[in-house]
Amino acid sequence: MKILVVDDDRFNLRVARDIITANVDHAGVLICDKPETVMELLATENIGVVLLDIVMPGLNGIDLLRQIRRREEYRDIQILMFTGLADQDSLRECFEAGANDFIAKPINPTVLVARTRAAIKVRRYILQLKETLQRIDEQYTDLQDMTRKLQETQFSLFQTEKLASLGQIAAGVAHEINNPLGFVSSNLEILERYLGKVRESLNVYQNLGRQLADPRVPRAVLAGMQQKIAEQKEQNKLGIILDDLEPLIGETREGVDRVAKIVQSLRNFARDGKEDEFARHDLNQIVEEALLIMQNEIKYIAHVHRKLGENLEIECDRVKIGQVLVNILSNAVQAIKNQRRDTLGNITVETGLDGDNIICRIVDDGTGIREEHKSRIFDPFFTTKPVGEGTGLGLSIAYGLVKKHGGDLWMDSEWGRGTLFTIRLPRSGATA
Ligand SMILES: Nc1ncnc2c1ncn2[C@@H]1O[C@H](COP(=O)(O)OP(=O)(O)OP(=O)(O)O)[C@@H](O)[C@H]1O
Ligand SMILES: [Mg+2]
Repeated sequence: MKILVVDDDRFNLRVARDIITANVDHAGVLICDKPETVMELLATENIGVVLLDIVMPGLNGIDLLRQIRRREEYRDIQILMFTGLADQDSLRECFEAGANDFIAKPINPTVLVARTRAAIKVRRYILQLKETLQRIDEQYTDLQDMTRKLQETQFSLFQTEKLASLGQIAAGVAHEINNPLGFVSSNLEILERYLGKVRESLNVYQNLGRQLADPRVPRAVLAGMQQKIAEQKEQNKLGIILDDLEPLIGETREGVDRVAKIVQSLRNFARDGKEDEFARHDLNQIVEEALLIMQNEIKYIAHVHRKLGENLEIECDRVKIGQVLVNILSNAVQAIKNQRRDTLGNITVETGLDGDNIICRIVDDGTGIREEHKSRIFDPFFTTKPVGEGTGLGLSIAYGLVKKHGGDLWMDSEWGRGTLFTIRLPRSGATA
């Protein structure tokens, strides 16, 4: 960095240059007695500090100062004015025009050195600061860039997770429906075969009936037919068929019911079920009904604590809200059961008002839900239960039903401690 001294007095210039060169480290000094050439020098030399005389013939110091400051790139150059006693009035003007400091004339070497060193220091700090600011700016841009990329990644992860869940749902539906459909169709095959045999036997019976009604048929022939019937009955295993029919039909009906349940739950999930039967009900009563239905399951597993509020009338479909409660309660029971503890667990049901909403909380001190499962528990067919024990539909059905009521259902849980489900329902029923 160079120091430029501008003065029309060549003697002054030399004195200043000698003092600075001798006392200020690493400072290259340029001197100039023609103020008109200063702008040119600034453009070609790396000048950080200018010592500028005020009174000069031609272009005076203040005008030159203004010219320099007008240029953006020279705003940080440190400019110190040389001022004689007679220039005191101009000094204020100089500061207004952007001077940084002044040095009184005649020049006192100590002052000159001190002020020049200070100016160099300031100039260096400014440069460092600018550099730092630029670096921060770059880092900020980098950071913004990274945040954007992160958001994009997160978004695409979210998308893939959603898609994965959709895929899983589709696979789940296919699997769940395929199973009952499999045994329904094999049962139908068996029933068809049975039907053939029954029909065969029926023909023989009908034949016998006709023969019996005819007095001309000799008894020996009838006895022969009776014998044949007995044989055929044995051959067609009619007794076994009759015994088998009832469970076969029962099992088939169960399969059909299961498919119906899956379809119904999917409908709930897709929110295109039949119109609901909304009416005013007391939420506490629905809670009691749900507890009653669950009583048998709960009583050997947990104590039930009720903290029921008052005036909890709500516009809702009571069967559906009951279903929501039962689904959540049965999960609570299972979570406590899974702990295989010696004492009873605890299930607390709390109801109350929150503005225009009714809140119902169901808390259990069961296993809790693992962190990695939390985002999936409302997905249809997500279950941690062994095959055959859970369909994974309970919560997805409950969620769909609560949403249909214009409400919300959410969960808080800590693995190892327990789970809280909160249901929020608008008192006025679904507004959507
Ligand atoms: N109160 C709870 N405590 C611990 N885990 C829970 C609780 N409620 C739900 N879960 C977890 O969420 C999963 C999904 O629950 P959901 O009711 O949808 O299906 P499920 O109980 O497995 O099967 P289904 O209800 O169809 O018999 C459960 O398998 C279980 O892992
Ligand atoms: Mg369940």
